[in-house]
Amino acid sequence: MEEIIDSKKPEFVVTPWEVSGKVDYDKLIKDFGTKRIDDGLRERMKMHTEKMHVLLKRQFFFSHRDLDLILNDYEQKKGFFLYTGRGPSGPMHIGHLVPLIFTKWLQDKFGVNVYIEITDDEKYVFKREREWKEIQKFANENIADIAAIGFDPNKTFIFKDSEYIKNVYPLMLKIARKINYSTVKSAFGFNEQTNIGLMFYPAYQAVPTFFENKLCLIPCAIDQDVFWRSVQREVAEGLGFKKAAAIHSKFLPPLTGTEGKMSASQAETAVWLTDDEKTVRNKIMKYAFSGGQATTEEHRRLGGDTEKDVAYQWLSILFEPDNKKLRQIHDNYHSGKLLTGELKQILVDKINLFLKEHRENRKKAEKLVDKFMYSGKLAKEMWNKNYE
Ligand code: TYM
Repeated sequence: MEEIIDSKKPEFVVTPWEVSGKVDYDKLIKDFGTKRIDDGLRERMKMHTEKMHVLLKRQFFFSHRDLDLILNDYEQKKGFFLYTGRGPSGPMHIGHLVPLIFTKWLQDKFGVNVYIEITDDEKYVFKREREWKEIQKFANENIADIAAIGFDPNKTFIFKDSEYIKNVYPLMLKIARKINYSTVKSAFGFNEQTNIGLMFYPAYQAVPTFFENKLCLIPCAIDQDVFWRSVQREVAEGLGFKKAAAIHSKFLPPLTGTEGKMSASQAETAVWLTDDEKTVRNKIMKYAFSGGQATTEEHRRLGGDTEKDVAYQWLSILFEPDNKKLRQIHDNYHSGKLLTGELKQILVDKINLFLKEHRENRKKAEKLVDKFMYSGKLAKEMWNKNYE
């Protein structure tokens, strides 16, 4: 039988609204024109941070734009600021926390301001099945989850786009009139059917990069790079601002395999921050793609494959920061000493501990939400500013 191969179909897709297939991160560095974070740059970071965060050490944060310029400015006492965000399309999963956890660590180490954009507008125009009220409910829940991460309440401003718009609308228009349809069409894949809300939105995602007259560093997964590559960095200098720097992570893989990303649209692929202990256990035992063999006997003889095993991947990305312990898990799995169920149990325990702490922090942080959004030192300053 003749095999028909669709040569046009890409092997993988990475856009802000879709990640699918087996992502080739080396190819993304080339295609997007970013730079790999090499040993030299990691060591230079370490000079300032003393320890290296596991997400940096294990190269989950793997790519950057102008991170070297950020360090130059920091070393010359010019400073910089951090900016990241969240689109409140639903509850948050563990993948969404990754850039935020890393941002908090950078804030601790460098003592800088953090701006967190909650894009209720983006998700309302993108998710057309959602009502405004639903988006607001998710926005408030997501903000409570973000507050639980431990940012400095006096150096962090969390804002909802729909509320802060009055302080930034002229600036947003300045950006918007520099971007034409053909640019966003090719950059974001917009077409005749795309609603005009979504077409206008990219201007807002560039706005916070101009909040201070310093370099801005954006921690995010690499799906967001197009906003910096095709919008922010294209217009910044023409408007008298600086090009934003970025530090990009890979994607926490879905439970069901190492292709694509953990995604809100497929519930079984994700561990939600609201999952209780039993749900976490059931999900991981049932869905986590295994690199083990079909039977215990075969597994003991042949051993498992850590490259394919999602439980191992999650441990190595974030949940087992101790190199020695991870090495031991790796070796025991390869030799067949550690069975799939046992490996999964290690991850279940780690995630349940992580979520228990998160739930406790979230409760305590409820009081802080007001500080982050309105009454903290930075929040107050921001509400008194009008950007043109
Ligand atoms: P959103 O809500 O889709 O995603 C929030 C952040 O999480 C990252 N992310 C992941 N990281 C690791 N593993 C995953 N599986 C995974 N899935 C998502 C995203 O890259 C993002 O950093 N338009 C944005 C909101 C936004 C923003 C920003 C994000 C506004 N300004 C500045 C980063 C930086 C959005 O909808 O993100």
